Amino acid sequence: MRLQGKTALVTGASGGIGQGIVERLATEGADIIVAVHTANDAAQETAEAVRARSRQAWVIVGDLASATQAADVVNRAVAAAGRLHIVVNNAGIEVRAPFWDATETDYDRVLDTNLKGPFFLTQAFVRHLRAEGRGGKVINISSVHEDLPFPHFTSYCVSKGGLRMLMRNLAIELAPLGITVNNIAPGAIQTPINRKLTHDQARLDALMAQIPLGRLGQPADVAGLAAFLASDDADYVTGTTLYVDGGLLWNYAEQ
Ligand code: BGC
Repeated sequence: MRLQGKTALVTGASGGIGQGIVERLATEGADIIVAVHTANDAAQETAEAVRARSRQAWVIVGDLASATQAADVVNRAVAAAGRLHIVVNNAGIEVRAPFWDATETDYDRVLDTNLKGPFFLTQAFVRHLRAEGRGGKVINISSVHEDLPFPHFTSYCVSKGGLRMLMRNLAIELAPLGITVNNIAPGAIQTPINRKLTHDQARLDALMAQIPLGRLGQPADVAGLAAFLASDDADYVTGTTLYVDGGLLWNYAEQ
């Protein structure tokens, strides 16, 4: 039980990768704050999955795109759990559009969720850690698209590229506080974010041809890495991106 006695706050934890991470961290002994944008049954089910593992869970609702609400979410989490050791910035969205059709509304939604949210939630977490005079762990769920172009998903790529530099910058600035900051970059994981793709056989076949390991990833594939980064085993790991993509990012071959 690598995470016994720790409390982790995971955003966007009502489904997909976030839910997988919550279950794995709880299995490893952590109590969990399930942070969600809007109250929903799935968030309660995620919390129940934690309790089924004999760990404590709290669902906290807040719009993390607001710095004030992000601070409030952290305050409520600390009030409920006593203290926080780990934050997993997982909540993320993508909107497909040709660049010339991308709207300001969608741009703002994607950047607010994927980049502004992690920025201010991490800031609130760091203030909590500073007040207590101890270190902690920040884990961002990024994407292979923090590096790899993804035509028609430019706002998404901009947000993930930004998340990469947020991570690198904070790793250096927060190291003296004993806070580590890392990204996990998933490839194609089977979750609600790519439901449209997985229901379109032609697009799915084209994607599969690019994945050397020959399958979509599952939330559990990502969750194992999150548990590692959250644990003492990763105390000397900071400022880095760990890929979990079945070989997608560096795939190139000639026939
Ligand atoms: C995106 C998916 C995409 C995958 C591989 C992920 O970051 O959310 O839509 O299928 O990258 O390109």
